Amino acid sequence: MLLRAIQPESRHDVAFLGQVLADPHLARYVRGWGRRGDGGVIAEEAGGRVGACWYRLFPADEPGYGFVDERTLELGIAVVADRRRRGVGRALLGAALSDAASEGFAAISLSVEPDNPSRLLYAQFGFVQVGMVEGSWTMRAELLQQPKRRASP
Ligand SMILES: CC(C)(COP(=O)(O)OP(=O)(O)OC[C@H]1O[C@@H](n2cnc3c(N)ncnc32)[C@H](O)[C@@H]1OP(=O)(O)O)[C@@H](O)C(=O)NCCC(=O)NCCS
Repeated sequence: MLLRAIQPESRHDVAFLGQVLADPHLARYVRGWGRRGDGGVIAEEAGGRVGACWYRLFPADEPGYGFVDERTLELGIAVVADRRRRGVGRALLGAALSDAASEGFAAISLSVEPDNPSRLLYAQFGFVQVGMVEGSWTMRAELLQQPKRRASP
């Protein structure tokens, strides 16, 4: 899912995975998964995994592309191509934000290219642009305002 979030239209094969893991800026999104602040939700349909939304805290000396500060989670999201536009992404995002809020985090950010239509979805959950890094928007949302519920598509 990380590969899909990085390059929605590229091939998500072992070679691309190797490229991502060899890039220190990208590998830090998964390396050592399970530390404090790591979390997320997976969408399953008929036993298959069709999407995920996850979040992680980054240190200032190894930030993510959407880094705001060391107390703000950074979020990633992807749904497999043939299951998009059916409400899976919205359900994943709602559930992940609810979980992050109930874990006590106050804010969450992400990095999105300005022409990615997922920007519309983020805005609906209260994300606003707070910066621009290498042509991508950094967006941030307050978590305490997220509804404490889980949605199902
Ligand atoms: C972003 C993504 C996770 C959204 O998942 P999804 O299941 O397709 O989203 P939903 O069906 O829940 O759509 C929610 C809203 O997002 C917006 N949206 C998502 N994709 C869109 C598109 N291609 N065109 C226009 N609006 C879109 C719409 O506002 C939509 O609401 P609507 O269907 O009521 O109009 C999915 O498109 C994806 O995996 N994209 C590739 C990876 C990616 O870009 N990740 C984000 C990196 S920042």
